[in-house]
Amino acid sequence: MPSSEDFYLEYQGLLLPRETHCTESLKFAQEFIFNDDDVVAVTYPKSGTTWMQEILPLVLNGGDLTPVHTVVNWDRVPWLEETRLAKIVDKLPSPRALVTHFHYSLMPPSFHTSKARVIYVMRNPKDVMVSSYYFHQMANFLEDPGTFDEFMEKFLEGRVLFGKWTDHVKSWRHAELGDRILFITYEEMVQDLSASIKRMSDFLCCDLSKDVIQKIAEHCSFRSMKANIMSNFSLVPKEYMDNEKSPFLRKGIAGDWKNHFSSDQLARFKSVINRELEGEKFPLPWSL
Ligand code: A3P
Repeated sequence: MPSSEDFYLEYQGLLLPRETHCTESLKFAQEFIFNDDDVVAVTYPKSGTTWMQEILPLVLNGGDLTPVHTVVNWDRVPWLEETRLAKIVDKLPSPRALVTHFHYSLMPPSFHTSKARVIYVMRNPKDVMVSSYYFHQMANFLEDPGTFDEFMEKFLEGRVLFGKWTDHVKSWRHAELGDRILFITYEEMVQDLSASIKRMSDFLCCDLSKDVIQKIAEHCSFRSMKANIMSNFSLVPKEYMDNEKSPFLRKGIAGDWKNHFSSDQLARFKSVINRELEGEKFPLPWSL
């Protein structure tokens, strides 16, 4: 029976999948030189990373669909910490868009001295956990999640990818980045994608017309992304990701946790998350 170490490497106390991360990729991330016009979408896993890999290039290029139709999402807007970045960094158009699951404390020195901007996407942790549970079932490079109950304990203890949800959110909420950071929620995007894209384009000083925003929102709808082979992970061999077990673009809704949590699980989840967020002043857009 494979052990946790077979699937994950530990980096600064966090678990990262060996399939996509290695010592060299983490060194590359630490030595990465940010440009002032770089844009980074920061997410805890399963909070809307792939969605941002679709939205950002379109916002930055004025709605030209070429990159989302011709370049796979992981090369179009690569992860700062993953092995792929070193291979394609020189091909990224300017301004560059990246994603990362790093906590704020893991960002490289050049990020701090640059003016690179950050869009932090936060999602209700109960839905994050549900999404992650299914992801662990379909991604063969991740440890089997066990039962929902077992996975919930791992999630609450931070024995999952990139550690505790609460630590991730706190680290970025406390980052003193002033107007370099925009906080947005997955739920806001589900509710009104055009308005969310407008917020992002204003933040990035991209002057997009209503029609272009509408076009981007239509292209980035769940249905449209699910049909885009450059974004739905169907090009990943089945031995790595089995979309028949659970599609990567699974449901794309807010509130699926209601179909999964028992009342006992909900009480336990709330008590742990509330305890960890005690004293925090930042607003949560949903009740836990
Ligand atoms: P579900 O599993 O709840 O469906 P990440 O990209 O960070 O791994 O997050 C994956 C989650 O974002 C999945 O959630 C996926 O369906 C959802 N997602 C991706 N694109 C989306 C879109 N266009 N609209 C709504 N949800 C989307």
